[in-house]
Amino acid sequence: MHEIIRQLEANRAAAKLGGGKARIDAQHAKGKLTARERIELLLDAGSFEEWDMFVEHRCTDFGMADQKIPGDGVVTGYGTVNGRLVFVFSQDFTVFGGSLSEPHAEKICKIMDQAMRVGAPVVGLNDSGGARIQEGVASLGGYAEVFQRNVLASGVIPQISLIMGPCAGGAVYSPAMTDFILMVKDSSYMFVTGPEVVKTVTHEDVTAEELGGAVTHTTRSGVADLAFENDVETLMMTRRLVSFLPGSNRDQPPVIPTDDPAERDDPSLNTLVPDNPNKPYDIKELVIKVVDENDFFELQPDHAKNIIIGFARMEGQPVGIVANQPLVLAGCLDIKSAIKAARFVRFCDAFHIPIITFVDVPGFMPGTSQEYGGIIKHGAKLLYAYAEATVPKVTVITRKAYGGAYDVMSSKHLRGDVNFAWPSAEIAVMGPKGAVEIIFRKDIGDPQKIADRTEEYRKKFANPFIAGHRGYIDDVIMPSETRKRICRSLKVLRGKRLDNPWRKHGNIPL
Ligand code: HXC
Repeated sequence: MHEIIRQLEANRAAAKLGGGKARIDAQHAKGKLTARERIELLLDAGSFEEWDMFVEHRCTDFGMADQKIPGDGVVTGYGTVNGRLVFVFSQDFTVFGGSLSEPHAEKICKIMDQAMRVGAPVVGLNDSGGARIQEGVASLGGYAEVFQRNVLASGVIPQISLIMGPCAGGAVYSPAMTDFILMVKDSSYMFVTGPEVVKTVTHEDVTAEELGGAVTHTTRSGVADLAFENDVETLMMTRRLVSFLPGSNRDQPPVIPTDDPAERDDPSLNTLVPDNPNKPYDIKELVIKVVDENDFFELQPDHAKNIIIGFARMEGQPVGIVANQPLVLAGCLDIKSAIKAARFVRFCDAFHIPIITFVDVPGFMPGTSQEYGGIIKHGAKLLYAYAEATVPKVTVITRKAYGGAYDVMSSKHLRGDVNFAWPSAEIAVMGPKGAVEIIFRKDIGDPQKIADRTEEYRKKFANPFIAGHRGYIDDVIMPSETRKRICRSLKVLRGKRLDNPWRKHGNIPL
């Protein structure tokens, strides 16, 4: 008995030491925390329960039979974040470079399976040299087992990936299938093929950071949602993200009581929209002034900035916010913004998070790059996402809602539950100038006539009343009372039941 306990303690100590002090020091020297230090920060103090600490690899090739480290390069288990259950795996770069062996994959799969059964999010901390090279195809099989679970878990439990070191080759596809990716600046990267292969194949000179660093993926590619300065900040922000999410699609999102009154007026909103319809303003100001305690958790803030997405709360209840941003590209919809918002809308719908949409959209972005890039299919993604969503949907048109973009942005016709307009709303097929130049083309040589017709068109359509006559908007509201009206609407919608027809799955335009 004593001997077993002594052995147990020795094994635990060995597991905790991972790849040894020198490798831990090397990890720290790179500004990175170890797998266990990260878990300590992510989870509530003392809440971590570790599983499979004694798992070892079964590889005997290339001298591996003599190199066994308990845990085999990944720390797995569960704990709590603000008292709520979360499953976690954290790859240990100090053990064989965090590379994925068959048992390493089995450990990840075990916590994913259990998270699915009990209904809790999985947070994966990625820091790995990829497939365990000594193992060959067994490692590839391990990856595929994880991928399969990522897919089956999608829409059932929230999945969050933190990229905190290397993540390359096929290994990127596990995070890619999770709901959110958070990266650490300067110490993490993700790419399908690295700089050397890129150089050989396309003759491009590019560093790992430029090719797949945190800034690249949160600005250019949109692969990642957020980038942070270091491990600690990334882990703290993950805790914040988790606070908005339910454990699974069987639960409602967690309500956090607030002292912010639901009926709070904000008179400053009455002057937010400039008199000149072509002058931009910051829609984020509206978002921040309307939500509980001015607290908005924005996602992808530096990618496709013409649309804003993120989580907030209204009367304590988590909501998803989607808003056109007139400050960037006049708030028009393009390929990147449509994809960005569509995926977010689908996430909210999968997890019972009501969607609030603020609309100021002059239309879709014109141009060959957009058309050749497939704006038809990509724009349709957002339309599809809104149309299939059955969660409560509240829409506020602040200014322009032109053309097809009006339809797309959670309009009444796509089962918007409550659709408000501010007095400054213009709901029309297009802007007055463009409209007049088409329907009065023969008068184009006569500037006075065109100006008169434009004014006539503006008076007729550049207001919320035509849509109001038809019931396409439910009410015209004062900007100052936006919070109150949204809160009341969400309260009414709490009992909403709406189901889509049965089908195996739809065929979203991918
Ligand atoms: C086994 C590995 C490993 C791997 C690293 N190590 N990657 N062991 N399998 N894939 C080990 C190293 O031997 C070393 O062991 C320790 O981890 C740290 O590695 P270093 O190279 O010293 O660290 P660093 O200089 O920081 O470089 C990190 C790295 C590099 C860029 C990740 O290690 C690297 O290029 N590794 C190989 C990456 C790779 O090609 N992986 C397979 C890709 S294919 P010691 O004992 O010296 O500490 C793939 C397919 C997945 O992943 C497909 C899924 C479908």
